[in-house]
Amino acid sequence: MTAHAILVVGSINYDLIVSQERLPRRGETLVSTGFRADPGGKGANQAVQAARLGASVRFVGAAGADQHGEICRAALEREGIECRLRSTGAAAGLGIVHVVGDGEVHATIVEGANAVVTGEWVDENADLVASSAVVVLQNEVPASANERAVALAAAAGVPVVYNAAPARPVPLEVTRACAWFVVNEDEAAEYLGRPLGDVADDAAMRAAVAELAAFCDSVVLTLGSRGCYVLEGRRVEFVGAVPAHAVDTTGAGDSFIGAFAVALADGVDPFSAARTAALVASITVAGMGAQSSMPTREDLEA
Ligand code: RIB
Repeated sequence: MTAHAILVVGSINYDLIVSQERLPRRGETLVSTGFRADPGGKGANQAVQAARLGASVRFVGAAGADQHGEICRAALEREGIECRLRSTGAAAGLGIVHVVGDGEVHATIVEGANAVVTGEWVDENADLVASSAVVVLQNEVPASANERAVALAAAAGVPVVYNAAPARPVPLEVTRACAWFVVNEDEAAEYLGRPLGDVADDAAMRAAVAELAAFCDSVVLTLGSRGCYVLEGRRVEFVGAVPAHAVDTTGAGDSFIGAFAVALADGVDPFSAARTAALVASITVAGMGAQSSMPTREDLEA
């Protein structure tokens, strides 16, 4: 087994990031205050963050046949990520991202080429699973891909970090076979079928984490600029966010996941892993774009 190898099965999107003072009202046309186009997609972002922290990263997905797909593929390869990208005539997936106020993000994705990242494609690349220390999944590719990846990882005894974002129905046998179930407050509310309450309310957040344990024995509930709760076994710990001047929170959650996976692969305990991941995410929010603002290991040491 390659030590500390991370396998990400997931999405690639070309992000169109529009900064504006607020979201437009119905029928209104707003003038943006800034624009940036960048490689993105939760899967690709997580892979890039893991690679920047020194992990050996493999990626199973699809980039798309157009120029956007080519830019995204080249971005992954520049990071030294071993890519197994399924051919398709479809255009790249897109992320249409509105950034308002102090970096708050409202996003819509267009599936594009990500639709061909199926269970069949995961099976064709099954050799990567058993030789990885950690497998990372999200919900921007077809559910069959995650189901196969979880089954192969379980058979090989490889832990899965499942970032169940965006929220969608997932069988409990899939989530329970994962080592980690990671969601933000909005996704948690969707999975639990109820509002979570005030993220500053410690008792309410601990109650939510306890309920999320129905999905998986180990849970991380991320709460943006507040921090996160980590549940492992019977221990729940709050890990505060590292204060940052947020410019654009696009990809901050992915940055957290990439860093968390690397730390787990390095044998770090999950509470310390979450502290490192929080630091990494705090650097990502301070710059525009997802992948372009993710720190390297040298950045962290500096
Ligand atoms: O998590 C951020 C990512 O979500 C963006 O890069 C966008 O592409 C969407 O997938």
